[in-house]
Amino acid sequence: MSQLHIIDHPMIQHKLTIMRDRETGAKDFRELLKEISLLMGYEVTRDLPLIEVEIETPICPMKAKKINGRKLAIVPILRAGMGMVEGLQMLVPVAKVGHIGLYRNEQTHLPVVYYCKLPEDIQDRLVIITDPMLATGGSACDAIDMLKQRGCTNIRLMCLVGAPEGIAKVQAAHPDVDIYLAAVDERLNENAYIVPGLGDAGDRIFGTK
Ligand code: PRP
Ligand code: URA
Repeated sequence: MSQLHIIDHPMIQHKLTIMRDRETGAKDFRELLKEISLLMGYEVTRDLPLIEVEIETPICPMKAKKINGRKLAIVPILRAGMGMVEGLQMLVPVAKVGHIGLYRNEQTHLPVVYYCKLPEDIQDRLVIITDPMLATGGSACDAIDMLKQRGCTNIRLMCLVGAPEGIAKVQAAHPDVDIYLAAVDERLNENAYIVPGLGDAGDRIFGTK
C-alpha cells in the first residue's frame, strides 16, 4: 500500500490558509504555492540516496555526501502543476522537467490528455508529479498511467490539497506511489470541486477567471 504523507508543518499550514482565502490575488497565490512547494520538497526528497564525492575544504581533502540530482524528474500536470515546479527546482536545480497536459471535462469530470513531453531517460529517474489539487484522482491516475507506460517504476505524487475520494482512487490504482499532501479536505461537491478547497487552482494561478 502506498504511503500517505501529510506535511502539516506550521509554516505550510499558515501559507495554505492565505492561499485558500478568496481575497488572495494571483500574484500572492503563485508566490505562496512556490514557497510551499519548496518546503514540501524537503519531505518528498527526505530519503533520496546520497553519493560520496571527494572534495577539498580550505583545510583538507574529505569525502562528502551529495544528492544525485541528475536522477530526478519533476513532472507537472498542466496547467496548475506548473506552479509547484519552481519551488522544487530551487532544491534540485539539475532535475529534468517533463510536462503532462490534462484538463477535466466540465460535464463528466474525466481527464482529457492534450500534451505529453517527457525527458528521454524518464524511466531511469525518480519522478515527482506535481499538481496542487487531488480531487476525484482521475488526472493523477492518468498521469501515473502515462509514466508507467514509459517504464517509470519510481513515482511520487506531490499535491497541496486532497479529497478523500481522490486519495482512495490513487491508492487503489497505484499502491506503489506515495502521496504527499499539505491537507486532506472534507469531500467533493456536485461539480467535483474540493470542499472547502481553494477553488480552481489553474484559474487562481493564471488569473483566467
Ligand atoms: C485541475 C487540477 C488537477 C485536476 C484535479 O486541473 O489542477 O489537474 O483538476 O481534478 P481530478 O483529481 O478530479 O482529476 P483542471 O482540469 O482544472 O485543468 P487546468 O489545470 O488546466 O485548469
Ligand atoms: N480542480 C481544481 O482546481 N480545484 C478543485 O477543487 C478540483 C479540481
